[in-house]
Amino acid sequence: MNKLTKIFLAKFDIYDINNKYISWLNDPDVNKYLETKEASKQSAFRYIRNINYDPYKEMYSINVEYTNESKFIGTCTAQLDFKNNSCVIGIMIGDKTYWGKGYGTKAIEALTHHIKNRHCITNFKLACKAENIAAVKCYEKAGFKKTEISLELCLE
Ligand SMILES: CC(C)(COP(=O)(O)OP(=O)(O)OC[C@H]1O[C@@H](n2cnc3c(N)ncnc32)[C@H](O)[C@@H]1OP(=O)(O)O)[C@@H](O)C(=O)NCCC(=O)NCCS
Repeated sequence: MNKLTKIFLAKFDIYDINNKYISWLNDPDVNKYLETKEASKQSAFRYIRNINYDPYKEMYSINVEYTNESKFIGTCTAQLDFKNNSCVIGIMIGDKTYWGKGYGTKAIEALTHHIKNRHCITNFKLACKAENIAAVKCYEKAGFKKTEISLELCLE
C-alpha cells in the first residue's frame, strides 16, 4: 500500500457511525492532540447530529478509492464564517496504517477546495499544537503558513 490512491470526501452522517469510527476516537495515539479523548456511539451520535443541524458546520468522511471498493480512513470538519470569508478546519486520519503516506495532505486539499467551490470561502485557519509534527507538516504541505497562533491558507 505504498502507492497514493485517490481519495474522496463524503458527507458524514449519523448512519456512518460504526465501531471502527468509535475505536479511532478512543485510541490514545489518534486522540493525543484532539479535544475528544473518549467517545461512545451515543456521544458520537449527539456530536454529529449537532453538526448536521448547524448551518455553519460540515463534516465529511475521508475515503480511499480502490478499483472495486472504497475504504473509510478518517473524518474532517469545517466551521464556516461567511461574514469573514473564513473557515476553521479539522482532520483525523483514524486508520493509523494510512499515516505518513500523504493522505492527510490530500484530504486537506480536497476539503479546502470543496469549501471554496461550494461556499466561495477562501481563507482557512486551524489551531495546532507545535508538537503535533505530522499535523504541522501535513498542513504546510497543503499550503498553510504558520502565524503566531495558528496556521492559515488563502485560496484565490
Ligand atoms: C495529523 C494527520 C492528519 C496527518 O495525516 P498523514 O496522512 O499522516 O499526513 P501526511 O502523510 O500527508 O503528512 C505527514 C508528514 O509528517 C511526517 N511525520 C509524521 N510524524 C513525524 C514525526 N514524528 N517527525 C517528523 N515528521 C513526521 C510524515 O513523514 C509526513 O511528511 P513527508 O510527506 O515529508 O514524509 C494524522 O496523523 C492524524 O489524523 N493524526 C491524529 C489526529 C490529529 O492529530 N489531527 C490533527 C489535529 S490538529
